[in-house]
Amino acid sequence: MKRLIIISNRLPVSITDNEEGISYTKSVGGLATGLDSLNFQTEMHWIGWPGIHPDDAGKKQKISRDLKNQNIHPVFLSAEQISYYYEGYSNSTIWPLFHYFFVYTEYDARFWETYKSVNQLFLEEVKKVVQPDDLIWIHDYHLMLLPGMLRDHLPDCRIGFFLHIPFPSYELFRVLPERAEILQGLLGADLVGFHTFEYMRHFISSVYRILGLEFTVNETIHKNRPVRVDNFPMGINYDLYHNIAEDPETRMHIERYSQQFKNKTIIFSVDRLDYSKGILHRLQAYDRFLETYPVYRKNVVLILLVVPSRDNVEKYQDLKTKIDEYAGYLNGKYSDINWAPVHYLYRSFDIKHLCALYYISDVALVTPLRDGMNLIAKEYVATKKNKPGVLILSEMTGAIIELNEALRVNPNNIEEIKDTLFFALNIPESEQIQRLEKMQQVLSRQTNARWTSDFFSELNNIGLIRKKISGKYIDAGNRNSIINAYQNKRKRLFLLDYDGTLTGFAKDPYKAVPDEKLKILISQLIASSRNKVVIISGRDRKFLEQYFPQSELILVAEHGSFIRKQGKWTRKFSRQKHAWKEEISELIQPITDRTPGSSIEIKEASIVWHYRKTDLWLADLRVKQLLDTLIYPCTRLKLQIMKGNKIVEIKYPGVNKGAAAISMLDFFPSDYILAAGDDTTDEDMFMVLPDKAITIKIGGYSQNAKYYLHSHNEFIEFLECLTQDKTSLT
Ligand code: UDP
Ligand code: G6P
Repeated sequence: MKRLIIISNRLPVSITDNEEGISYTKSVGGLATGLDSLNFQTEMHWIGWPGIHPDDAGKKQKISRDLKNQNIHPVFLSAEQISYYYEGYSNSTIWPLFHYFFVYTEYDARFWETYKSVNQLFLEEVKKVVQPDDLIWIHDYHLMLLPGMLRDHLPDCRIGFFLHIPFPSYELFRVLPERAEILQGLLGADLVGFHTFEYMRHFISSVYRILGLEFTVNETIHKNRPVRVDNFPMGINYDLYHNIAEDPETRMHIERYSQQFKNKTIIFSVDRLDYSKGILHRLQAYDRFLETYPVYRKNVVLILLVVPSRDNVEKYQDLKTKIDEYAGYLNGKYSDINWAPVHYLYRSFDIKHLCALYYISDVALVTPLRDGMNLIAKEYVATKKNKPGVLILSEMTGAIIELNEALRVNPNNIEEIKDTLFFALNIPESEQIQRLEKMQQVLSRQTNARWTSDFFSELNNIGLIRKKISGKYIDAGNRNSIINAYQNKRKRLFLLDYDGTLTGFAKDPYKAVPDEKLKILISQLIASSRNKVVIISGRDRKFLEQYFPQSELILVAEHGSFIRKQGKWTRKFSRQKHAWKEEISELIQPITDRTPGSSIEIKEASIVWHYRKTDLWLADLRVKQLLDTLIYPCTRLKLQIMKGNKIVEIKYPGVNKGAAAISMLDFFPSDYILAAGDDTTDEDMFMVLPDKAITIKIGGYSQNAKYYLHSHNEFIEFLECLTQDKTSLT
């Protein structure tokens, strides 16, 4: 890797400007702290907003100069941009919606307009910094349009995007008026990463439902490029946290706090001020706890650390007031002269202070209503080196997937949190340590260094695939060489699939018939005595014969069950053998009845279940059910089940386009073979053909084919060039 350019809204340093002048401190929040402790072995640049908007140019210049030494490039925003882009679209539209706070979601046309223009502003800054071989890593929901903008500007650069917050279910995401633009923006990246597979699943389903793009496993093709999505749970710098209690300064804080809270059981709660963190629910649960178990009064203290965040946004201001009130209410309700149940701090701490508090706490109460990951939970566990402690963790966090030994709670269930708190305070120390150690093992492997290396290695893989694919696409360059070779050969064999290759798909398969252009093209191909043209299809022979009557054409129907040569059909199986069709179609019928848009096609030697018109999710489910239903009868009847392009076909084993292609090679020894197809069934054909064959996958690339084209239209155009000798076409 040459250089890494990280782009995020929040820089790892925050800048304050007051009477004492400009000062630089570390930023808080998962993104900044998580990335900050990474040690990249490469030149790294960071582009982002410095967190303030100085109005005089001199200050801006000074900040830029100071930061430049650290390869940090500030993007200055005006007060209006901060208000509409940061506080507005990012934190009053996207943040609440993506955290399932639908009713908090605000819309304002100015928010979106400014969001677009600020993404553009970031693009301008990237343009100043970026060099051709750089790896670009864009972070989080503030910059979801940037990957697409950057891709338009630098089509070949390597771009990764990581979303640090949840990606919501399609049902929620769809309410955004700008949903399509956001997805298009994100798909400008080569790799889109999420903390958990659930966020990734939601993203895939939104892309399909909104943009109509399908994924094969975790990859889709967008504007002729492969885009992958995957989950990479962000980790922490484990060694840093695990050994921090041995650091003399941290030790000093530990001793001071231990003294201060001597003989008290400490429950620790720490979050940025945010309604997604469930702070009020937590206080309610603590209230219920003190009410239910009076014996704990005077013995416990809740250290409630709330870190100031986004305090210009109204919902955050409201929350702050409510927390102040509730903490005050609890202290008023339960305190006596020597004891108060809540020790409330509204500020932020540096890592050593924070870890001292983690270290001395008996319980960490981490109960967000929704959280992309939650690093606090991981840091708490890591810091507890040979020290007991219990983590109570919300099941709505990304971290819960890795932290199995935490006490799991539904953050909306106040009674459950209260009971779990009681349970936590009664777990023997030996068990506490055992649980912590198991989680420490996980965290020590899934560190933030591992997170980045996994992300980069996947990004690299996609880069390689992209390179491989780009050579496979039939562009003006390789088209000419294919056509030149064609002109010089005497025995030329064409193996052409029909649906998706010579013609497009129609919702009703019987409406996908050849147009005039195709008819002319086929006539031209067979007019040359040097050519042997085979239409090799899954269609039945009646259909093929009706549209391709010319006896010079060889027709392979039902994947090879029937072959027409010199106008005469031969069959692979005797008619009597097809008795199974009734039994199988009876099994498929009930599934078809329950699946709108699906249908059964009974061919002479096979049965096909079509689901092109069916909703993708439902079709997926039904295909699984169908396979489940058919597996035993098909084994008994010695039949094969084959999945194709929106079809499931039941047919004889050994009948496939590969076997049919081989028989064609025997029948017509040739010095030029051109095979084209779009479907998984055509892969059988690609795989058996000799190396010299020109194999063309239509509609996307394939490992088994030498070349690819995007659509049947492109293929028809290519065949026209071939027949009309348009070698000079570009
Ligand atoms: N943090 C900090 N000082 C504080 C409180 C929190 O530096 O006083 C850091 C904490 O170490 C953690 C981050 O802020 O790394 C919070 O990240 P998390 O993923 O838990 O929540 P987010 O802020 O991303 O929603
Ligand atoms: C979350 C977001 C980050 C953000 C952080 C702090 O972790 O995912 O992108 O930086 O909160 O929020 P702030 O608005 O202060 O940057």
